Amino acid sequence: MKLALIGFGVVGQGLAEILRDKADDLHQSYDFAPQIVAVVTQRRGSLYCLDGLRIDDLLSAMTKGHLDHYPDAAGLIRDWDALRIIRESNADVMVESTHSNFETAQPALDYCRAAFDSGKHVVLANKGPVALAYSELVTLADSAGKKLFFEATVMAGTPSIRLAMDALSGCQITEARGILNGTTNYILMQMENGMPYGEALAQAQSLGYAEADPAGDVDGWDAAGKALILANAVFGTPLTLSQMTVKGISNLTQADIETARHAGERWKLIAHVTPEGGSVQPTRLPVTDPLANVSGANNAITYKTDLLGRVTLIGAGAGRLPTGFGLLSDLLNIHRLA
Ligand code: HSE
Repeated sequence: MKLALIGFGVVGQGLAEILRDKADDLHQSYDFAPQIVAVVTQRRGSLYCLDGLRIDDLLSAMTKGHLDHYPDAAGLIRDWDALRIIRESNADVMVESTHSNFETAQPALDYCRAAFDSGKHVVLANKGPVALAYSELVTLADSAGKKLFFEATVMAGTPSIRLAMDALSGCQITEARGILNGTTNYILMQMENGMPYGEALAQAQSLGYAEADPAGDVDGWDAAGKALILANAVFGTPLTLSQMTVKGISNLTQADIETARHAGERWKLIAHVTPEGGSVQPTRLPVTDPLANVSGANNAITYKTDLLGRVTLIGAGAGRLPTGFGLLSDLLNIHRLA
């Protein structure tokens, strides 16, 4: 399987690191030997080599600040743009992990269109296209006879999407409620430990949890985008951001957190989705609620089902390897189905 990585930040590099470190295991256990043939960054160059790129050299070039530091090699092409690589490279799969845009989903949406148009599978960590154009993407994937997977978009590699769309097939899911943003959950935990808001946010950024613009996290838009993905993909409801109530955590003070603590409660940023609509807002939960005990950058989701009752999944919600794993799980799925 040949991969074109569009976006090579925390998440794309996380996937590359996993593919390098688990190469033997992936080959032996799953007969899976993927090869990165192209990498595109927004400001740090791009590379394409139809025979494959060396992961160590890719990661070390990024450590030095630019893909120009990748050693010259026969057949190496530098600086093709994303659309040219998607259309003209020999990749089988486009893996898209550029920044999520919840206003237009661009440029990633055009990348997805070009990928299906040129016969490639699409695997997304980018939330924008799934949140804003899910039904179009499904139609394009179906007509191209290619796969569209996006496990990494909600709860990183913790399989919230596959749980709902695969493992729970046959159940009717009537509600999803959870903690879908790692950055804000991390900040709230650190504020409970007495750390000032700004310092906790800076830590979440340096740990690779936050979006490029962390306002998307703290103002609730990232969790809302994930709620849209659940609404569209799990419930088949074409919900939009303007139809949702969205509130973030930036107005929560240390005093609010203390008041809740004295009442035996904790603030959590809770996303709630039903077939009728969705919301994201800070909510005070009793410490006996399982969601109140989801700590750090972990996320959780409870699906309410007709046959199993409530099913809760808790796990990593952000970060380099957890999100890189979400992409890997989709690639393995394509490998199994191909
Ligand atoms: N910024 C996101 C979060 C990354 O903190 O949850 C994972 O989508």
